[in-house]
Amino acid sequence: MNFKQNNTPLFDALKRFAGGQPISFHVPGHKNGRIPPGETREYFEAVLPLDLTELTGLDDLHGPGGVIDEAQKLAAEYFGADHTHFLIGGSTAGNLAMILSVCAAGDSIIVQRNSHKSIFNGLELSGARPIFMVPTFDDSVKRYTAPDIETVRMALQEHPDAKAVVLTYPDYFGRTFEIEEIIKLIHEYNVPVLIDEAHGVHFSSGRMFPTSALTLGADAVVQSAHKMAPAMTMGALLHIQSDRISNSQVHHYLQMVQSSSPSYPIMASLDLARAFLANLTSDDLELILESACEVSDIFDSSDYWDVLPADDPLKITLEAKPGITGGMIADLFEQQGIYPELSTNHQVLFIHGLAPFTQFDQLKKAIRQIGAQLKNQRNHDIITIDNLFTERLTELDLDYSVMDRHGTAQVSLHQSAGYIAGEPITPYPPGIPLILKGERITQSHILEVKKLAKQGVHLQHLDINDGINIFIDQ
Ligand SMILES: Cc1ncc(COP(=O)(O)O)c(C=O)c1O
Repeated sequence: MNFKQNNTPLFDALKRFAGGQPISFHVPGHKNGRIPPGETREYFEAVLPLDLTELTGLDDLHGPGGVIDEAQKLAAEYFGADHTHFLIGGSTAGNLAMILSVCAAGDSIIVQRNSHKSIFNGLELSGARPIFMVPTFDDSVKRYTAPDIETVRMALQEHPDAKAVVLTYPDYFGRTFEIEEIIKLIHEYNVPVLIDEAHGVHFSSGRMFPTSALTLGADAVVQSAHKMAPAMTMGALLHIQSDRISNSQVHHYLQMVQSSSPSYPIMASLDLARAFLANLTSDDLELILESACEVSDIFDSSDYWDVLPADDPLKITLEAKPGITGGMIADLFEQQGIYPELSTNHQVLFIHGLAPFTQFDQLKKAIRQIGAQLKNQRNHDIITIDNLFTERLTELDLDYSVMDRHGTAQVSLHQSAGYIAGEPITPYPPGIPLILKGERITQSHILEVKKLAKQGVHLQHLDINDGINIFIDQ
């Protein structure tokens, strides 16, 4: 065991400071938690005294040289990075800074099409020219997962000057892919690999989990410590581990996209979450895994869904049997006071997390009751989404860097062919933009949108009756 990893320098400094009963003539306005009074105060009482600001001894996230620096260095040591940056704006902030740090307007960058919106926002802010790689449809989990290595190779051959390749690993459901081979391939072109590992912060804590992309050689990795580790919401990490990425550029963009008043409770929770992960023993991990297996087995006892294979044992995905939707299952669980992470038309995701589960009897009872309720319910909508994308690589028809010079207008769907989309159109499922902002709308897009709408698929950003937002010349 590395005893240093027990240390929590930032949390300790806050505790010491708060324990000194300091008199506040500074922000924040709650004055060490004395305001608000009354009942609401009880809920925040324990945390607000730690909600401090850049006071003597408490360092500065945007120019760290004290306890924040120490806490970030401990995180870098644990995760095996050259540098770790604490994020108080979630992986969202990390993805923005990571992308802005590698590319400027007009630069090529290769990106997985099924990326989180923060990646698209980063691309748009940078004005880069993305080459989007289509993910493959994985029959075993009935979802689009990641682009295959051949697609990545094709993108690199066509765009060897790309400033980076941006991938998401694992996906929301804990599915991984051949990332090690893909990283090696990308490095043959001396192109940096940027990974959105928002759902994989726990991968460094044990061999029962997939290996982190950081361990497998990625150059920059973003992780939401609030998703799978016990950090507060918005607590996340950005790790850098190579000279292919400029750490000072990353730092520069982080202080642009993050608040100048970063939350100390969130930063302290990152310090604590790292110490928690680093100190998980093999016995702890075994208990967690046993619990996750038991929960998975309990879910598997129902006739109304299947439990899908997962690479991350802490993610449990139910695939609804024909005639039942993910939404129906999720609603019934919620009626029993059990809240899943998300549901799609045919799947429901439950996150076990790193705390051993205890309410097994309650779960079994709920599953029995849900089974009885589903017995007489049937929904006959069948949605097919496995053939949505025909081209492996696509580019925008209107560059992000010139979009601002165009106005937008609304046209009806059937009149939209030939225009450039002014906003993405994303069917749920699969939650991947069918038409991207800046892509030219084709007849086959229109046919696909109509087909999906007929199947009852929710189309984000499109009310089929109102029409489509398109770019026009000003
Ligand atoms: C793949 C992926 N990346 C990034 C994010 C953004 O993370 P955060 O909520 O920490 O900003 C999410 C959020 O769900 C995500 O699923």
